[in-house]
Amino acid sequence: MQNNFLSRATTIELAPFQEAQFWIINLQDIQKTEVLSAETFLDIQTQNKTRKLIPEDGRNRSIITHAILRYQLSKLICCAPDKVELMLNKFGKPYLKNNFTYFNIAHTKDFAFIAFHPNRPIGIDIEKLDEKIDALKLSDNFMSPDEKKVLLANPNQATDYFFSFWCAKEAFLKALGTGLVIKKIPEIYPNFDEFDTISSFDSKDSQKIFVYDKKIEYHKLAVYVIQQENPTILG
Ligand SMILES: CC(C)(COP(=O)(O)OP(=O)(O)OC[C@H]1O[C@@H](n2cnc3c(N)ncnc32)[C@H](O)[C@@H]1OP(=O)(O)O)[C@@H](O)C(=O)NCCC(=O)NCCS
Repeated sequence: MQNNFLSRATTIELAPFQEAQFWIINLQDIQKTEVLSAETFLDIQTQNKTRKLIPEDGRNRSIITHAILRYQLSKLICCAPDKVELMLNKFGKPYLKNNFTYFNIAHTKDFAFIAFHPNRPIGIDIEKLDEKIDALKLSDNFMSPDEKKVLLANPNQATDYFFSFWCAKEAFLKALGTGLVIKKIPEIYPNFDEFDTISSFDSKDSQKIFVYDKKIEYHKLAVYVIQQENPTILG
């Protein structure tokens, strides 16, 4: 059986992360033959888990994403893809057993985004811009007063800023590995002049979360790499 599904993954470079590897996986129009081939890359537990997923197109996207994740990890640690041993932390973040390579996954309906870092915890997010949302209304629940001020000051770009902030927060929480269990979501301080195509945001501990536009149409990507040994867990 041919592993054509592997050609769905394209590596991308995201400055300033030189040590990390990033892949975008196109999840559109998945064929049954690709799914059958990808399933052979999964370990038994993941096969059992994905079999229970509904609807079918969501299941297929998950199978392709996890098969490509395992393929890339298997090359890094030199074993067969279905023999890659993954564990979950108590908040559900997957990690490699007995290895210091860090990785993270994020997906939308059409794309998955995966990242590897050789020695630092990494968190990523991908979001499709949805112009139909009411960014100002949603910002009452998810943004700080200062963040909301940025939206109010830029009404024509409110949706754009909303998704940048959202994406940055998700990457931050996913690097920590806590998800939303921490009580306080990080506040983001926009910093607009560092790169042409990148907006960088300072998290509270003044490390940067990077948000990227224009890498994939209508999608934003965010990356946060924890640099310090003992990051402050907010909350
Ligand atoms: C997993 C979580 C961190 C993100 O979920 P999400 O946005 O639905 O999904 P994403 O596509 O970004 O990421 C999903 C992947 O993250 C990984 N993941 C799961 N739990 C994780 C955690 N605690 N930390 C980091 N990564 C995690 C998994 O690999 C998962 O993919 P998989 O199920 O295929 O293995 C979720 O627990 C969460 O807290 N969501 C918060 C949503 C929200 O309200 N954000 C507000 C920001 S202002």
